[in-house]
Amino acid sequence: MTADFSLAGQVALVTGASSGLGRTFAGFLADAGAKVVLGARRAEKCAEAAAELGDAAFPVALDVTDADSIELALDAAENALGPVTLLINNAGTVTNRALVDTPPEEWRQVIDTNLTGCFLVTRAVARRMIAAETGGRIVNVSSMLGQTPTGQVHAYSASKAGINQLTRTSALELARHGISVNALAPGYIQTDLNTDFLNGPAGERIVKRVPQRRFGQIADLEGVLLLLSSPAGSYMTGEIITVDGGLSLSGM
Ligand SMILES: NC(=O)c1ccc[n+]([C@@H]2O[C@H](COP(=O)([O-])OP(=O)(O)OC[C@H]3O[C@@H](n4cnc5c(N)ncnc54)[C@H](OP(=O)(O)O)[C@@H]3O)[C@@H](O)[C@H]2O)c1
Repeated sequence: MTADFSLAGQVALVTGASSGLGRTFAGFLADAGAKVVLGARRAEKCAEAAAELGDAAFPVALDVTDADSIELALDAAENALGPVTLLINNAGTVTNRALVDTPPEEWRQVIDTNLTGCFLVTRAVARRMIAAETGGRIVNVSSMLGQTPTGQVHAYSASKAGINQLTRTSALELARHGISVNALAPGYIQTDLNTDFLNGPAGERIVKRVPQRRFGQIADLEGVLLLLSSPAGSYMTGEIITVDGGLSLSGM
C-alpha cells in the first residue's frame, strides 16, 4: 500500500469531543498518530476522554458559538501541543419539532451551534494556519439530512445544508493556502445517546428504509475520517462524503 493515512506530526482539534462521535473520533486520530485537542463546553468530560488517550491529548473548554472562547482554546492548545493543523468541526445539536411549533429561539440556537459555530472555528483556525504557513485540513461533520429532507428537524437540516455549502465555499478560498476542506455526512449512527431510540419502534421503521438494513456504527466512519484527514486524501477538497448505508438513495 502506498497511500499514506498517517497523522504523525499533526495536531488535531476535535470540537464536541466530550461525547458521542467527537470523543471516538479523537481516539481514531490519536491511533493514527496525531496529537489531539479535545474541545467542548463540558471541559471535565474532555479531560476524562483526554486522560484515556494519554500524553498526546489535551482537553480545552470551548464554546463554538463564542469567538473569545475559541481564541482562548486555540491559545491553550497551541501552548500545550503546537499549532493546530487538522480541524474536525464536529460540535452539534439537534431538536425535533414541527415547523409551525418551532420557536425562533430554538431555531437560532441550532443554527448558531451547528452552522455559525462551524464558521467561527473555521475562521479562527484558518487565520492561524495561514499566518503560520502550515497548510492544513478541515473536516466538517455534516449529515445526510443536509441533502435529504425529512420532517421535524428543520433547523438541524438547514444548518447541515449550510455546512455543505460552507464546505465548498471555504474549500475554494482556502485551497491557495494549502488548506483542504471536506465534509463527512453520516446517516443514522448508533451512539450512547440514540441507542434506545434506534432500538425502539421508531428505529424499527427507519431501519427498513436503510438499503443495508442496519444502522451505522461509529467505526463505519473511521475510514472516511482518516481519508479526509490524512495525506491519502490530499487531492480532495470541497467534497461531501455521505456514509449512510444507502439511506439517502431510498428517500426518507
Ligand atoms: N449520531 C448520529 O447519528 C449523527 C448523524 C449525522 C450527523 N451527526 C453529527 O455528528 C456530530 C456529533 O453528534 P453526536 O451524535 O456525537 O451527538 P452528541 O453526543 O450530543 O455530541 C455533540 C457534541 O457537541 C458538543 N457541543 C454542543 N454544543 C456545543 C457548543 N456550543 N460548543 C462546543 N461544543 C458543543 C457537545 O459537548 P458539550 O455539551 O460538552 O459542549 C457534544 O460533545 C453532530 O454535528 C451531529 O449533527 C450525528
